[in-house]
Amino acid sequence: MKSLFWVVLLGAAAVMVRGGSDGEISFEYHRYEEMRKALVSVWLQCPTISRIYTIGESFEGREMLVLEMSDNPGTHEPGEPEFKYIANMHGNEAVGRELLIYLAQYLCNQYQQGNDTIIDLIHSTRIHLMPSMNPDGFEKAASQPGEIKDWFVGRSNAQGVDLNRNFPDLDRIVYINEREGGANNHLLQNMKKAVDENSKLAPETKAVIHWIMDIPFVLSANLHGGDVVANYPYDETRTGSAHEYSASPDDVMFKSLARSYSMFNPVMSDPNRPACRKNDDDSSFKEGITNGGAWYSVPGGMQDFNYLSSNCFEITLELSCDKFPSEDTLKNYWDQNRNSLVNYIEQVHRGVKGFVRDLQGNPVSNATISVEGINHDITTAKDGDYWRLLAPGNYKVAASAPGYLTVIKKVAVPHSPATRVDFELESMMERKEEEREELMDWWKMMSQTLNF
Ligand SMILES: *[C@@H]1O[C@H](CO)[C@@H](O)[C@H](O)[C@H]1NC(C)=O
Ligand SMILES: *[C@@H]1O[C@H](CO)[C@@H](O)[C@H](O)[C@H]1NC(C)=O
Ligand SMILES: [Zn+2]
Repeated sequence: MKSLFWVVLLGAAAVMVRGGSDGEISFEYHRYEEMRKALVSVWLQCPTISRIYTIGESFEGREMLVLEMSDNPGTHEPGEPEFKYIANMHGNEAVGRELLIYLAQYLCNQYQQGNDTIIDLIHSTRIHLMPSMNPDGFEKAASQPGEIKDWFVGRSNAQGVDLNRNFPDLDRIVYINEREGGANNHLLQNMKKAVDENSKLAPETKAVIHWIMDIPFVLSANLHGGDVVANYPYDETRTGSAHEYSASPDDVMFKSLARSYSMFNPVMSDPNRPACRKNDDDSSFKEGITNGGAWYSVPGGMQDFNYLSSNCFEITLELSCDKFPSEDTLKNYWDQNRNSLVNYIEQVHRGVKGFVRDLQGNPVSNATISVEGINHDITTAKDGDYWRLLAPGNYKVAASAPGYLTVIKKVAVPHSPATRVDFELESMMERKEEEREELMDWWKMMSQTLNF
């Protein structure tokens, strides 16, 4: 009797855990093999909306795994924006790594349970989750004995490279171009070979550079630990000083993006939250967000690299005072960040989006989309599709490409969703032909009138 009672009770408890909105999430740390297994089980549970792939290997040969969630895994659908989260680039900053594993499990569970918000999100967005950009560093940090981990052990990759200082320093280039004229985007254009041959770049950095440049990402965040704030570009100061507000041309939108994360995180947005450590200088934090340079200057970071080398807007999320907190706090971090993590992905559907085509309806790829008053252009992807994140307001948006006549349109942008604006570009050849024909008509008319 007694044992049967316990079996029934345990069975009921198991059903409650499984049936809850957090489904099968187990709030624990995942070492490399466990992380791989956890991602594989999401894929096995939700095979029609997910895929696992790797973008390369770490220095010690661990795979840099990505779980993709989309209604068409493995393909870029024309018009559908791409989003990514990257965590654990500092191997000892462990919370983000776990949150992305839980997020994958949550999205899969909610999709299967028929949650409309999550179904819409997965049907309209291609989402890439990389729980660990520095799997070697994590193993080093995690193998320290005891609950309390050293503040630095495992931060760098296995070669001792700090990956968030290892990206090509494009800020320095754009700051010169701002003064002297020059490109304001895609600053590594046509330099992939130089990247491959650069021996100063860690294998993890190279793999991520290729990833950023190969997929038309629109929005991204990289997840860190050691403080609690949403940090937005630029990270590197213009003058080289240690602390200085360093606005990017998209400062208004970046603030809005950072707030879209902090707002839903009750700890991050708490104005009375005490600093993580007594001597920390948090004076640049407002509403749970900070400009990177205003906090402290970071040259060679991944965040600014995204913005200056591709169309992707990235912010940096600091999620916990402790870099490697004890396992029993992981559920709390999930509760604090779950709504923020989902809400931030939804921001990819803001601003202006559409297609650029020629008069025959062929896509014009690599066309430039510029917004009057914002000195940062983006470009169209392979199918002529583009996404230009913008804060609410009235804008003049131009589409141009070599050999075509530029088209300018006035656009009203609400908070969301993105306003659809397509462009049809007339090639200059076609225009010349038209002008020639007009001239001929005129000539015919004149000759008739004058009777010769
Ligand atoms: C559906 O997902 C959204 C976004 O994560 C969440 O806020 C909401 O509570 C979920 N609905 C249910 C019924 O669990
Ligand atoms: C895109 O256009 C830019 C300038 O218009 C050019 O320098 C670059 O090579 C083009 N890229 C590709 C992949 O065609
Ligand atoms: Zn970090």
